[in-house]
Amino acid sequence: MSITVSTLKKLKDEHKKFATITAYDATFARIFDEAGISAILIGDSLGMTIQGRDSTVAVTIDDMAYHTACVRRGVTNALILADMPFMTCCDTASMCANAAKLMRAGANVVKIEGGAFLKDGIRTLVNNGVPVCGHLGLTPQSVNVFGGYKVQGRGDAAQRLIDDCFAVADAGASMIVLECVPKDLAARITSELSIPVIGIGAGNQTDGQVLVMHDALGFTVGHTPKFAFNFLKETGNVTDAVKLYISMVESGQYPADEQSFK
Ligand code: KIV
Ligand code: NA
Repeated sequence: MSITVSTLKKLKDEHKKFATITAYDATFARIFDEAGISAILIGDSLGMTIQGRDSTVAVTIDDMAYHTACVRRGVTNALILADMPFMTCCDTASMCANAAKLMRAGANVVKIEGGAFLKDGIRTLVNNGVPVCGHLGLTPQSVNVFGGYKVQGRGDAAQRLIDDCFAVADAGASMIVLECVPKDLAARITSELSIPVIGIGAGNQTDGQVLVMHDALGFTVGHTPKFAFNFLKETGNVTDAVKLYISMVESGQYPADEQSFK
């Protein structure tokens, strides 16, 4: 059965957790889809995992459209999310033109980094038939503003993050990714928002989890993030690794506290 944004909303309402993973090509996308993953993200993390760069800043909309089309061909059931890369959301008109490229390549949802400043653009996309996933907390496209990859939403920044999540949700987003925020804050945002919240480095109280496939299979290059877990080491093959990831997310065993931030 094909997964839609309504399926994920229903899972949230029933307090059932779901797993998401990145893929960048048809082969891995097919393996993850057949293992029963709910959603597949063509992340602009491909700047690192595919292109060997040290950030996502150089990734273009054409890179994203190419990999989205590759993934699309491998997927039967999973919902397909594709990232809007760096500097493709500066105004509503270019946001629409760029989102159209990803939707035509086969995305079901576009994911956009940022908060309240995106309100008008998100509203316009949704009105034109483009479901939107927000992405807040650590937004890697802003690494040069943050001065590194750091946990977000601590102290005074917590209320600002909550306000931004509400702004994105009120603008019509179908779901939100929360990256690298303290577990308790992510839990609070998840319970206050009516749309699904998908965490990465955000504790096990969110509605869903997402991982870069390399961080789930022990292929991480360079620094291994705190939330990474090598499911392949536990199982010995990729299909069973993804099945284990899915079941540990659904049961709340992943991420454990040692893979979360306080
Ligand atoms: O690009 C990516 O893979 C992402 C996930 C880490 C959420 O945005
Ligand atoms: Na991304």
